[in-house]
Amino acid sequence: MTTPTFTPRVFSGIQPSGGLTLGNYLGAIKRFVSMQDEAFETIYCMVDLHAITVWQDPADLRRNTRELAAGFIASGISPEKSILINQSQVPEHAQLAWIFNCVARMGWMKRMTQFKDKAGKNAEAASLGLFGYPALMAADILIYHATHVPVGEDQKQHLELTRDIAAKFNHDYDVDFFPLTEPVIEGAATRVMSLRDGSKKMSKSDPSDASRINMTDDADTIAKKIRKAKTDPDALPSEAEGLADRPEARNLVNIYAALNDQSVAEVLRDVGGQQFGAFKPLLAELAVSKLSPISSEMARLMADPSEIDQILKRGARQARDITAPILEKTYEIVGMVR
Ligand code: TYM
Repeated sequence: MTTPTFTPRVFSGIQPSGGLTLGNYLGAIKRFVSMQDEAFETIYCMVDLHAITVWQDPADLRRNTRELAAGFIASGISPEKSILINQSQVPEHAQLAWIFNCVARMGWMKRMTQFKDKAGKNAEAASLGLFGYPALMAADILIYHATHVPVGEDQKQHLELTRDIAAKFNHDYDVDFFPLTEPVIEGAATRVMSLRDGSKKMSKSDPSDASRINMTDDADTIAKKIRKAKTDPDALPSEAEGLADRPEARNLVNIYAALNDQSVAEVLRDVGGQQFGAFKPLLAELAVSKLSPISSEMARLMADPSEIDQILKRGARQARDITAPILEKTYEIVGMVR
């Protein structure tokens, strides 16, 4: 069989399992927005089926899904340029995931660090869904034959597994049906760290709210969290190498660079030599100027969720034009009588 050429197509998703953080925004959403204007079809997803791999209160899940959609739109994802969906309205994701459950191997899944982190010491009590999570993620991507997936650094291992699943399917059935998707992990903030501990990822599930900036935080809260962010006593260096053993300092500079669309070298050229007492107010001002328009637009959109629901319904219809034929073809390859 000749190798098919795949339409350049971007897929990515975020879990509606809590509020959006600055990590999600800088590591993922900003790139989602810029890829809309490159030569790609773009599909962005609220992965509600992934969220319930750990307990979600139903009312919270519904609210978080709509708020996440509002966050996407307020950040610049245009429903005219991109297909915006929630996963459960496009049933082919879950249908392909079943096939992939039968392709992926137990040994592969057991190596996934996110499962180990999330299941913790009590893995026996984790849901089967949490263990199978990466097969559903592979299905999210491959049900569109997506070629590129923008994500933060923490999703790299899942994207490698996605390629392994595609390769094994293609090999077992002797086809060139699923593309080997490219991860897009780029920019100054592919791993935004906790404001309280430079060795931990900024995360919506961290018990300390001071560890993260939420997209819905007001200006005072943002400024206060940055002022209190852990740092070291030294001045900022003038070159990136000077940040090597200074995780907290590096994190704040990375955040500044990503928010301001600059490289770390450019930022340090301007602020090198400054103490944190001078740099933190600059960072706070920049963060507020970039984030407050987003949070006020989110609040406006959330005032009338019916508009969001309509956008998601339309997105699901557009998505299914792509996913339904790919699922049919998959079933045919596998040998299901249709
Ligand atoms: P989730 O919901 O944990 O995070 C969504 C996106 O935000 C990025 N991210 C970060 N980037 C930089 N620094 C941080 N501190 C940070 N925290 C989060 C994540 O890397 C991600 O890109 N499994 C995925 C959701 C998913 C998905 C998919 C992604 C399901 N199916 C298909 C891509 C393609 C997740 O839990 O992301």
